[in-house]
Amino acid sequence: MLPDADELAEVLLDLAVPHEDINELVRMGRRVTDDPELLRFLEASVEELVRDMGEVGAAVDLPELDWASGALQRCFPVYVFVAALPHIRAHHRERGIPADVSRHTLADLGRHVALHRRRHGLPGVQAPHWLTHHFRGELYQLGRLQFERARHGERTGRMLASAGLEPAPGTPCLNLHIPDFLGPLSPAACDRSLALAGEFFARHYPEEKFRVALCHSWLLDPQLKRYLPEDSHVIRFQERFRVAREDTEPADTEPVRFVFGDPELPIETLPRRTSMERAVGDHLRAGGHWHIGHGWFPW
Ligand SMILES: CC(C)(COP(=O)(O)OP(=O)(O)OC[C@H]1O[C@@H](n2cnc3c(N)ncnc32)[C@H](O)[C@@H]1OP(=O)(O)O)[C@@H](O)C(=O)NCCC(=O)NCCS
Repeated sequence: MLPDADELAEVLLDLAVPHEDINELVRMGRRVTDDPELLRFLEASVEELVRDMGEVGAAVDLPELDWASGALQRCFPVYVFVAALPHIRAHHRERGIPADVSRHTLADLGRHVALHRRRHGLPGVQAPHWLTHHFRGELYQLGRLQFERARHGERTGRMLASAGLEPAPGTPCLNLHIPDFLGPLSPAACDRSLALAGEFFARHYPEEKFRVALCHSWLLDPQLKRYLPEDSHVIRFQERFRVAREDTEPADTEPVRFVFGDPELPIETLPRRTSMERAVGDHLRAGGHWHIGHGWFPW
């Protein structure tokens, strides 16, 4: 199910797994292949992951390896995604997905190993469930942004209807995501990414008629306008979207997670080096809350 040690190291490198984590992951990989019980668990996990490959919104329930050591538990999703590679690569080939899009998309695994190390100082996978979208053909990275094939729900349907669009709930939409560690969110990078996505989905998913792009993110909280200059990338990014709905639920840990790497950091100690760091921390220290912004534009 897993490549041997030499090949596993190369596969991890292709998936952008940080260099400092590769030796340990290869070592632990041997434990997985030598243990019939772990292998069975791996097989069941891969089966669950790739079932209904390509189908949008299927419930994927990756089982927790809660009976293994801490290190193996944290890293086990790496082996699940590696073992699923032949399936997702075959699916990408069937759809004619270019090799570089496939590579950049699946390299989000390495990004989430880096994010785990940033937060905990140890190898592991941050948010393994998030990566199921990539390994099931639901999400693609095209330039600066990631685009997730999705179906919008009733609330968004009602909002779009009131904007005169009238799509029924369940109509295909594209959810936009902004990956970490990928340079500035410049308007040019976003324009390029959107242009790539326009061509990509028309060519590879011609049967899915996407009507809108949606984004649900702390980066769309309109309160950021109070703190960041008008010409900052984040504010320019906000301006691409119309407001889909206003969320009043506090989501303070979101900006703390994405700006400082750990949602649980105490707000008194957050550094103030950049204008974003000052914005996020000062607002919370003054007793304010951050919210998820929900934006859309016609596709
Ligand atoms: C989205 C992102 C690329 C924007 O960065 P950017 O292109 O530099 O954005 P801006 O031009 O608007 O930045 C304005 C200021 O905030 C700072 N800033 C922006 N994002 C920052 C971050 N994540 N951490 C620290 N500082 C940040 C910039 O350095 C700049 O500082 P300065 O005015 O002191 O020079 C960046 O925030 C990022 O990588 N975020 C993580 C991913 C994320 O949050 N995704 C959304 C998940 S829902």
